Amino acid sequence: MNILLLGSGGREHAMAWKMVQSHHCDQLFIAPGNAGTSAFGQNLSIEVTDFTAIKQACIEHSIDMLVVGPEEPLVRGIYDFFQEDAELTHIIVVGPSAAAAQLEGSKAFSKKFMQRHGIPTAAYAEFTADSFEAGKAYIGAHSLPVVLKADGLAAGKGVVIATTTEEALQVFEEMIVGKQFGAASEKVVIEAFLAGIEVSVFALTNGQSYHIIGHAKDYKRIGEGDTGPNTGGMGCVSPVPFMNHSFMQKVEERIIRPTVSGLAQENLKYHGFIFFGLMNINGEPFVIEYNCRMGDPETEVVLPRLKTDLVALFAAMDNGTLEDANISFDERSAATIMAVSGGYPGDYEKNKSITLPAANSIANDTMVFHAGTRQAGEMVLTNGGRVLAVTCYGNNIADAAAKSRAILADIHFEGMYFRKDIGYEFPC
Ligand code: AMP
Ligand code: GLY
Repeated sequence: MNILLLGSGGREHAMAWKMVQSHHCDQLFIAPGNAGTSAFGQNLSIEVTDFTAIKQACIEHSIDMLVVGPEEPLVRGIYDFFQEDAELTHIIVVGPSAAAAQLEGSKAFSKKFMQRHGIPTAAYAEFTADSFEAGKAYIGAHSLPVVLKADGLAAGKGVVIATTTEEALQVFEEMIVGKQFGAASEKVVIEAFLAGIEVSVFALTNGQSYHIIGHAKDYKRIGEGDTGPNTGGMGCVSPVPFMNHSFMQKVEERIIRPTVSGLAQENLKYHGFIFFGLMNINGEPFVIEYNCRMGDPETEVVLPRLKTDLVALFAAMDNGTLEDANISFDERSAATIMAVSGGYPGDYEKNKSITLPAANSIANDTMVFHAGTRQAGEMVLTNGGRVLAVTCYGNNIADAAAKSRAILADIHFEGMYFRKDIGYEFPC
């Protein structure tokens, strides 16, 4: 099979690494990819939302399978674009339809979906410019902290946890009246704050059956000890010791099964990953959010632990045999640590030269996944806030994280920063 993978982050480098291990994968193309993905296939200089150029590439390279990394093309309807075009319908698309991608693309849609299917989540209400005064009154009467969410995609910046009523009112006004995120904040979801430990579970589904392909704990804050502003994720560990059989049973019974059967009941076409962003509140799981894609950097620990052939799973998802697939995991723990540009998640500079350890000096239980990098001749340059994700296996999380830190000590670029405490809650 010839495969086209869309995206350019650490998630896509990890997917490329995993997919080329499959004997079903003949040729891999990545659009646009990064300096790391080019080791596994051919990078194509195409943006992930340029559907016309993606179509041309599919025809030119006889693509059999399209794997969509990030959410934007999914929310914009790439699945439907392929279904509706006679020249593309034969291509297996890994990702949901636009209607189903609203689970991520619209917070209000996902909250209503959860309500319809009795899926545990925070209490909420939604408001628009027409109900602005009612929204202010709702905030005035709400306990603190209170969570405000722009309805649509807002590049990870649309969620604010306000600790005072004044702050919440100000944010609400900026979103609705100030149109802070344009159409994405015409509607705002206001919801109760859930205090607990945030974890992520990943499933692959064809809208009828599903398989859990892994879980992880992400470290979102920039600073050690979980301090400072939120980022896209500074590191991840898997498996998470407290996500034991009893917790995962609750997740399946109360969240995953009702979600997948809800998709089927509502005829929402879904052939891809569902990322369940959960809050574990004293052993009880609640949904914080759905994403219609894999996580980044969660993928960088989930795929290294997945022993099953990913391309075969995608094919099984497409031909209705997903239920029969055997999923097996590496027994070892995995940790990934992100090296980021100085200043991230605020302003940062790009184009810093990266010194990487020689490939033959890296043990085979280590993977240096590229995120924001680009190749410039012989040099690899920084090209984003999150630059590299270093994943190691270990006997336990502490062991895996220590190995990742040791590799990072041999990686350099101007302004490089990484958290040294990824996995700190799990000392052995
Ligand atoms: P979301 O885009 O909905 O995932 O929100 C971004 C982040 O905000 C989440 O990863 C959580 O860390 C936090 N968050 C969102 N909703 C809540 C909530 N109801 N209670 C506590 N934290 C939340
Ligand atoms: N690491 C969080 C995300 O991918 O949304």
